[in-house]
Amino acid sequence: MLAELPSELIVKLHQATQILAKSSRVCILTGAGISTESGIPTFRDKQTGLWEQYRAEDLASPSAFNRDPQLVWSWYQWRRQLVRDKVPNPAHIALAQWQQTKTHELTLITQNVDDLHEQAIRHEQANSNEQTDSTVTHLHGHLWRNRCSQCATPYTTPLAAQANKQSERSSSTESYDDKLINCNHCDGYIRPDIVWFGESLPVKSWQIAEQAAADCEVFISIGTSSLVYPAAGLAQLAKQNDAKIIEINPNPTPNTLVDITLAEKAGLVLPLLVQQLIK
Ligand code: OAD
Repeated sequence: MLAELPSELIVKLHQATQILAKSSRVCILTGAGISTESGIPTFRDKQTGLWEQYRAEDLASPSAFNRDPQLVWSWYQWRRQLVRDKVPNPAHIALAQWQQTKTHELTLITQNVDDLHEQAIRHEQANSNEQTDSTVTHLHGHLWRNRCSQCATPYTTPLAAQANKQSERSSSTESYDDKLINCNHCDGYIRPDIVWFGESLPVKSWQIAEQAAADCEVFISIGTSSLVYPAAGLAQLAKQNDAKIIEINPNPTPNTLVDITLAEKAGLVLPLLVQQLIK
C-alpha cells in the first residue's frame, strides 16, 4: 500500500510517525473534511460545500432564526435527512482504533455536528474486550439534539425518546417534517442545538479543548479549512506551547504554523499513520 503513494507523502508520513512515537500527549481537531468521504458535504469546498450553495447568514445565526424560523428549521431538517444514514469512514475508524489502544493520551475535538466519531468509537468498543472511556468533545454542538430558542430547555422528539438508543439519532422511522415545534415550557420555538455564527461555544467543551491544545506535544488538524475561530486558534495555542503541528488536508489552508502537511484525504492517510503507531 505504502509503495503506491507519492514518495513525498511516504517521507512525511514517516516524519509524522517518528514525532508521534516520541510523544505521549496528542490533541486532534477535526473538521468537515473528515466526514466528506462518508458522503457529508463540507462547508467551503468549491462546488460541493454547503456555504457555496447557501448563505450562512440566512441559515446559521440567531438573527436568521428570529427572522425566519421556518426556513432555518427546514434547512436543518434537510441536513438531518442527509446525514441520517451516513456511517464512519476509514478515517473515523482509524482514530477510534488509536483511542482504543491507549498508546497516547489523545484528546479528540471536533467542529463537526455529526456523530460519526461516536459511531466509530462504539464500533471499536464492540470489537474489543477492553472498554475505554474514549470521548469526543464537540465545539459546535450536535445535529441530533434540539433545545428551546428562548429558555434553552433540551427537547427530545417523542420518537427519539421512544427509541431510547445509545445513539442520539432519531429513530429511522422518524420523519423530518418541516413543521416548527413549540417548547413545552415557554412556547418558544425549538431549534437545533448547534452553535451558530455570533454565539459562544459551550463553556465546558472549550475548556477541554484549550487545555488539551495548551498541554499537547503534537497537535493534529484534520479536514478543516482553519478559517473559523475560536477553533482555528487552537493550533496557535499548541504552537505557543512548543507542540509540533501536523495537518491532514488534500488542499492548502491558511494555517502557517504547520510542521508537517500530509496533503491527502484523511481516509487514506489516517489508517496508514495509525497502523504505524499501534503495530
Ligand atoms: P470547511 O468546509 O471550511 O473545510 C473543510 C476542509 O476539509 C477543507 O480545507 C478541505 O480541503 C478539507 N477536505 C476536503 N476533503 C477532505 C478529505 N477527504 N480529507 C481531509 N480533508 C478534506 O469545514 P470546517 O473547517 O469544518 O460551523 O468548517 C468550520 C466550521 O464552519 C463548521 O464547523 C461550521 C462551518 O460554518 C458551524 O456549523 C457552527
